[in-house]
Amino acid sequence: MDLILKVWRQKNSESEGKIETYPISDISEDSSFLEMMDVLNNNLIEKGQEPVAFDHDCREGICGMCSMYINGQAHGPSRGTTTCQLHMRSFKDGDTIYIEPWRSKSLPIIKDLVVDRSAFDRIQQAGGFISVNTSGNTQDANAVPIPKENADKAFDAASCIGCAACVATCKNSSAMLFVSAKISQYSYLPQGEVEAKNRVVNMVEQMDKEGFGNCTNTGACEVECPKGISLEYIARMNREYLKATLIKDKK
Ligand code: SF4
Ligand code: FES
Repeated sequence: MDLILKVWRQKNSESEGKIETYPISDISEDSSFLEMMDVLNNNLIEKGQEPVAFDHDCREGICGMCSMYINGQAHGPSRGTTTCQLHMRSFKDGDTIYIEPWRSKSLPIIKDLVVDRSAFDRIQQAGGFISVNTSGNTQDANAVPIPKENADKAFDAASCIGCAACVATCKNSSAMLFVSAKISQYSYLPQGEVEAKNRVVNMVEQMDKEGFGNCTNTGACEVECPKGISLEYIARMNREYLKATLIKDKK
């Protein structure tokens, strides 16, 4: 396949960026999108030009690093797919492909397609954990009975990979789908219930501090989420937040 790539180039967080045009040829339709980006970078290096900076790690849909808009869609045209799992057979010979970084004030661009996602780390650090006594008398987690429905919902929530496609897609730059998944993966389980109230309050507060917008229930995040995280978790997070704040002293 021969393609025209229109790629966002930006030297650093201070400089202005712009779209550069790169024709690319002989791309196999069996190669992945990131392999195509590797070919582009090899071509640029051979010409003595700066390669395009983009994030990636696992290339298996697990780490959530490969974030970019492809023709205006987070992670490209295929549903339930990260950029690293996207194949070039999703495009046609002669296509023009626009490749841009996530756009959100809370995820500032570091260089080219790489954004700073440390806001997500700080939200996780505010409560995305359970405290476990490791004295040697710790109960085996598998010995605690958990209803199948709750285990399934916790597992589904835990499949969030922190890619931030939800933020990038939301017109308000809301991080509520991400935060609600991270809260729900614990609150559905008895091990997570102990700190549930503090967790939801602290994580929501940190989310607000980071400048993410509010949810207005348009549902774009759910559509573009590569892991199919449901809006139902946002409703659950809102209920938990109300319980933890409004009625925290009543039993
Ligand atoms: S909720 Fe979905 S889109 Fe948002 S960070 Fe998690 S996996 Fe990515
Ligand atoms: S590189 Fe890890 S999810 Fe794409």
